[in-house]
Amino acid sequence: MYKSAAEYIKSKVNLQPKVGIIFGTGLGSVAELIENPVYIPYTEVPNFPVSTVEGHIGRFIFGKIKNCDVLAMQGRVHFYEGYSMQQLAMPIRTMYALGVEKVIITNASGAINGDYSPGDIIIIKDHIKFITDSPLRGKNPDELGERFFDMTTAYSPRLIEMARTSADELGIKLNEGVYAYMGGPQFETPAEIKMLRFLGADLVGMSTVPEVITAVHCGIEVLGLSCVTNMAAGMENGGLNREVIDKAEKDLEKNLGMLIEKVVEKI
Ligand code: HPA
Repeated sequence: MYKSAAEYIKSKVNLQPKVGIIFGTGLGSVAELIENPVYIPYTEVPNFPVSTVEGHIGRFIFGKIKNCDVLAMQGRVHFYEGYSMQQLAMPIRTMYALGVEKVIITNASGAINGDYSPGDIIIIKDHIKFITDSPLRGKNPDELGERFFDMTTAYSPRLIEMARTSADELGIKLNEGVYAYMGGPQFETPAEIKMLRFLGADLVGMSTVPEVITAVHCGIEVLGLSCVTNMAAGMENGGLNREVIDKAEKDLEKNLGMLIEKVVEKI
């Protein structure tokens, strides 16, 4: 299925970016920094999973950032929308079939680590997955990668270093943390957050991990950037507070845009 999606996209654009970017919920406007954009809505692409949230933008964007060709995805689908884990592998595999070798994956998250605040960008250095299902469950597509594969450096140390240097140059504070992947759509309970903290998680969210696993499997290098939109449930001012989240997203847009530009320049 990913091959037919890629074939369709290739019939529309004659570009082969090596850098992919996935813009998470509420962060899609950062995609406006892409120059000479060519848009392909997911709804046009054969078999492509589309967001079940009415009015959500979902499209590929081919274009340039700082003279580097990029293939961005503005909007993504989630497990809680009813898609299977295996369907969540499709976007990354489509990028792979289009020639992408490195991907910057962004998301919105709740902070479990009390040193973080809404508006912070955190480099994801590792993750914890609670759902036992995997995007790779089923017969292994040998043309993409091995059945069993290592996740020790799933989040590329090389790209993490690049993000650190870029942030230093920009004067942006960047922490590094462990992201816990929860299914949602409900936010977590305070007891769940306490458990996640105890297990070593700094952040919690409902995306990214299926994409990271799929990318590592087929040899795509990953940089994960998590944008803290709120403190997690049970923490001071924690939980789903629309006002806090909206303000954090506004604050994040500028820094995330600048950081992505710098990283792409170096990549
Ligand atoms: N929990 C889960 N997902 C999230 C959160 C949260 O607190 N904030 C943003 N995405």
